[in-house]
Amino acid sequence: MTPGHSAAGRSAANLRVTGHGPGAPGKFIEAVDLSLSFGSTPALRGASLGVAKGEIVAVMGPSGSGKSTLLHCLAGILVPSSGEVHFNGMRLDRLSDDKRSALRRDRFGFVFQSGQLVPELTAEENVALPLLLSGMRRGPAMAAARTWFPTLGLDGLESRRSGELSGGQAQRVALARGLVAGPEVLFADEPTGALDSVSGELVMNLLVTAAREQGTTVVLVTHDARVAAYADREVVVRDGTVSTLTGAKP
Ligand SMILES: Nc1ncnc2c1ncn2[C@@H]1O[C@H](COP(=O)(O)OP(=O)(O)OP(=O)(O)O)[C@@H](O)[C@H]1O
Ligand SMILES: [Mg+2]
Repeated sequence: MTPGHSAAGRSAANLRVTGHGPGAPGKFIEAVDLSLSFGSTPALRGASLGVAKGEIVAVMGPSGSGKSTLLHCLAGILVPSSGEVHFNGMRLDRLSDDKRSALRRDRFGFVFQSGQLVPELTAEENVALPLLLSGMRRGPAMAAARTWFPTLGLDGLESRRSGELSGGQAQRVALARGLVAGPEVLFADEPTGALDSVSGELVMNLLVTAAREQGTTVVLVTHDARVAAYADREVVVRDGTVSTLTGAKP
């Protein structure tokens, strides 16, 4: 299986490091000069990133560099102490908690670093959750959820609870939950972290297919260069700032 826009064939010569000037117009998601500390620990120090509509961006960088924190700021889960987050022309960081929650529910999908399935629910109920939360009736929501199981190699696991799934199976259920409502943006934090390379390929192909077909924008944190190669573009977070590697694209 070959990604549509593989970075694997890029040579050092057609990679260039760009600056990260603020607020390029027309970006779907735009973070400008974000700073955020947890107590005395700085997690972001002037991080900027723009993502175009329909783009798949891989966020790489060492452990503790601020990748998850950046993702959470872009998604309106965390509010930076300074800087701006724009989504579709809106100042996301200035919205109330309620409005940011509604935005996350209605327009974003998530796959978190630790999976975070609801243990009391079955696998199919976990997948259906975003649909149920946005008011879909149980029957159609469960039917929509079940269609993801064969696609992800999860046939027969619909009624299992998360404690009865392997780490990799749980991560694929979490991916289905992130995609089931057809979000405009999917935020995925190490979505292939718990997967073997074959399952990882399956998940990445699914992500890329969803992004291309539904116009889903994907912000994907990964340590794995092979996973990042599926993205249109890779950025690297170091010490709470972003440097952008732009590959030559066809
Ligand atoms: N809730 C928190 N409380 C205190 N410190 C935190 C919290 N979340 C993150 N940090 C700190 O902020 C910094 C950035 O963390 P972050 O989780 O963004 O890193 P990361 O790049 O996602 O790392 P990893 O690759 O290990 O997931 C780290 O120094 C981390 O210890
Ligand atoms: Mg992280």
